[in-house]
Amino acid sequence: MEDERIAVVTGGNKGIGKEICRQLAGKGTRVIMTARDKTRGEAAGAELEKTGVSVIFHQLDVTDAASIAGLAAFVEKEFGRLDILINNAAIRIDQGMTGENVPIETLREMMEANTYGPLMVCQGLIPLLKKSASGRIVNVSSGMASLASMSGGSPAYRITKTALNAVTGILADELKGSGITVNSVHPGWVRTDMGGKNAAKSVEEGADTPVWLATQPGGGPTGGFYRDREPMPW
Ligand SMILES: NC(=O)c1ccc[n+]([C@@H]2O[C@H](COP(=O)([O-])OP(=O)(O)OC[C@H]3O[C@@H](n4cnc5c(N)ncnc54)[C@H](OP(=O)(O)O)[C@@H]3O)[C@@H](O)[C@H]2O)c1
Repeated sequence: MEDERIAVVTGGNKGIGKEICRQLAGKGTRVIMTARDKTRGEAAGAELEKTGVSVIFHQLDVTDAASIAGLAAFVEKEFGRLDILINNAAIRIDQGMTGENVPIETLREMMEANTYGPLMVCQGLIPLLKKSASGRIVNVSSGMASLASMSGGSPAYRITKTALNAVTGILADELKGSGITVNSVHPGWVRTDMGGKNAAKSVEEGADTPVWLATQPGGGPTGGFYRDREPMPW
């Protein structure tokens, strides 16, 4: 009997990820907040605790296969299944660069964190999501990934998030019939360390569509790209 939903959120120690943890926990979901740095992650968990929101912390560096295996073993042992995976963690270290001058090392580092990492986390946790009656994978992408409106600037970030959208489409198709839905979401331009203080949206607004997708009942949509709870062009 699945009376409580179990969720893993990556990059949960700050920004949109921390707010996703807060909103999911507020809906009665058992949230495993993960962060690559144990001290930062535990501090974020303690801050939420002070506001009456309880989460479980587990270390996870999405670029580290051993770290992913450790998390999967923990979830298996504690809960025997997983209902929700939100791939939120990402880096953006190519501001001011262009397609003409971005160092390939920068692109490689961002592919590891923003594309290969989420794919490896999916690979590690899909066996546990298959044990859920209705598994949900939400990949936090970006409007900058949209091929329909592709433009210059932040080349590595755009490439890594466009490739993440491909991961969404591939897994959504492959997992049809498993009960697991897979979607991408653009959270909007959000006031975080990544988005900056002039961004249009609060973290509460940025977390809204990821949480909405993660908590869709029944079949729910799959293989889509969403912003503000509406489909957007790939
Ligand atoms: N903010 C925006 O305007 C905006 C717009 C579109 C899309 N997004 C997307 O929304 C998501 C959240 O962004 P944000 O604005 O909240 O960014 P943020 O404040 O910079 O937070 C990013 C999070 O990802 C974590 N992270 C980075 N690399 C990691 C790794 N290898 N393993 C585990 N965690 C890692 C960071 O951990 P540390 O604290 O250890 O660095 C941090 O917790 C990202 O996917 C981003 O691309 C944001």
